[in-house]
Amino acid sequence: MQNSFAPTYYETPVTKVELSVSAIIFKYKIHLKIFLALDIFSSHINLRDKDVMSKSDPLCVLYIKEQGQNSYHEIGRTELIPNCLNPQWVKKFEVDYRFEERQLLRFHVFDWDTKSSNTKDQDSLGHVDCSLGEIMSCQGSQYKKPLSIGGTLIISGEEVAGSNEIVTLNVSANNLDKKKFFGKSDPFLVLSRSLQDNAFIAVHKTEVIKKNLNPNWKPIVIPVRTLCGGDEDRPIKFECFHWKANGSHSLIGVFQTNLKTFKEGSGSQNVYTFINPKKQKKSGYIGSGKFILNSCSMHVEPTFLEYIKGGLELHFTVAVDFTASNGDPQRPNSLHYIQQGCDNQYSLAIKSVGEIIQDYDTDKMFPALGFGAQIPPDMLISHEFFLNGSTDNPYCQGLEGVLNAYNHSLHNVRLYGPTNFSPVIRHVSRFAQAFQDGSSYFILLIITDGIITDLNETKKTLVEVSRLPISIIIVGVGNEDFSAMQLLDGDEKRLSYEGRYAERDIVQFVEFRRHMSGGSSCNSKTLLAKDVLAEVPTQTYFKIRLEDYHILFLKA
Ligand SMILES: *[C@@H]1O[C@H](CO)[C@@H](O)[C@H](O)[C@H]1NC(C)=O
Ligand SMILES: *[C@@H]1O[C@H](CO)[C@@H](O)[C@H](O)[C@H]1NC(C)=O
Ligand SMILES: *[C@@H]1O[C@H](CO)[C@@H](O)[C@H](O)[C@H]1NC(C)=O
Ligand SMILES: *[C@@H]1O[C@H](CO)[C@@H](O)[C@H](O)[C@H]1NC(C)=O
Ligand SMILES: *[C@@H]1O[C@H](CO)[C@@H](O)[C@H](O)[C@H]1NC(C)=O
Repeated sequence: MQNSFAPTYYETPVTKVELSVSAIIFKYKIHLKIFLALDIFSSHINLRDKDVMSKSDPLCVLYIKEQGQNSYHEIGRTELIPNCLNPQWVKKFEVDYRFEERQLLRFHVFDWDTKSSNTKDQDSLGHVDCSLGEIMSCQGSQYKKPLSIGGTLIISGEEVAGSNEIVTLNVSANNLDKKKFFGKSDPFLVLSRSLQDNAFIAVHKTEVIKKNLNPNWKPIVIPVRTLCGGDEDRPIKFECFHWKANGSHSLIGVFQTNLKTFKEGSGSQNVYTFINPKKQKKSGYIGSGKFILNSCSMHVEPTFLEYIKGGLELHFTVAVDFTASNGDPQRPNSLHYIQQGCDNQYSLAIKSVGEIIQDYDTDKMFPALGFGAQIPPDMLISHEFFLNGSTDNPYCQGLEGVLNAYNHSLHNVRLYGPTNFSPVIRHVSRFAQAFQDGSSYFILLIITDGIITDLNETKKTLVEVSRLPISIIIVGVGNEDFSAMQLLDGDEKRLSYEGRYAERDIVQFVEFRRHMSGGSSCNSKTLLAKDVLAEVPTQTYFKIRLEDYHILFLKA
């Protein structure tokens, strides 16, 4: 048996969150009231006006900033609460939460006049700008921020229930069609869920079982929201293919079902016939084999958001490649060249990933490391030095601090070699080792121009640290051959070294140049962050075990 395919998700499922808003407003409004008094004795009309203090009629409008653009668009409005300075709006906002994007929100409170539905005609009571990540990472569940013209806005974000169920399916097939003249078929399954418009999208692929017409695949473990978007009646399509080396796999047959039926468990209701549309018209065709559901079980796994709300802190470390192959930083063709006011690929990568993670890192002190340079005072080669020039304290204040420290190193170290990753990985894993109580998760961003020199040592290190709460993001800059990086990223094949396998996939590799074509740098920044961070929430799920999860919630 050969496992040619690792199960792949083709779509990152989003998590739905619900935002509730309340506010404390200081502003009273002043009405100009006009009294009409008719003077019956003088037969002329008397106009008298009078100022009256009354409370505001608040309504909150939520806007979201378009990715890579400067404009906000409206997501929704709460109801209006008349005459109130402490509104607790009942209407909630439902928003798709994506960890890998920095989703910027604006809550704008208006003193609403129902004569118009246009926000331009309303008196502003102030607004709050924040990211969805800041709201969701807020411990104790309420996020408070001053309104721009006084008062406070209070926001709580809850994950919409039911999005964290996981289903495990034990499935097999019988009497599949033979697809080879000599020998049996090599079957695998592709699961797809239907979309609104009846199209299907692939959500899972099983391993290939060679030369077997009665295969029993490894259990399929998949979140319910990925399998059917949380809707048990939604059609799920199973396709069985015969695997071919050149990629043009041939279809054995298809059937459809749904999760509701699956939940009835094994039995005749969950035996299906694979139908091959090409053979269907032939007389005497009775199908291309049977599909059998052996068991279907459900369990709930804490989601990434629950960890975050439970107080999980993300700790962000940057490691920068200072090897000579980057080119002399003084010259424009160097990957490290800094043109005044412009980002190079290194600083762009630091910003795109850092901007998102900083929302989940409360102290905003980020260690920044460098490797592959000769460093002062004695110009010895180091594979683990601190970018800010300090010998004992790698921490930088905010992303600004990291970028300054990067600039400091560019002017003080001599680019050299070789390109060794394992020292910086070990550096961060020492911290991860010390924080295994479920309170902390470490993200190491390695930015590099290329060919790794200590591949074996790095593999060995990665296999060792794969049990720790750590994810490693490698961003490849420049135009080198990055095939070794693909190998470290366990997407295709689980990483192993001398027979030992990594406990989980902890490496995500992204090539910068794929995000540079066309587009503004702002756009490529967003896309890079998306690609780089997409796997982190799932990597975290696998790491933190249930015991840790309980500790987490006792703490919260
Ligand atoms: C799946 O079901 C089959 C048939 O009942 C059984 O033989 C097999 O052990 C099950 N596999 C797992 C991993 O439980
Ligand atoms: C793959 O191989 C089959 C023969 O086994 C051939 O018919 C098919 O055209 C090939 N497809 C591609 C994409 O090369
Ligand atoms: C490096 O960090 C240390 C500790 O935060 C700080 O005292 C020092 O000034 C920094 N050095 C540079 C060059 O920024
Ligand atoms: C980088 O450092 C140099 C000298 O240390 C300084 O002249 C330059 O302004 C700095 N550039 C940035 C972008 O901070
Ligand atoms: C890396 O390890 C493999 C097998 O463990 C070995 O064959 C190979 O020579 C090693 N490469 C280096 C550069 O040490």
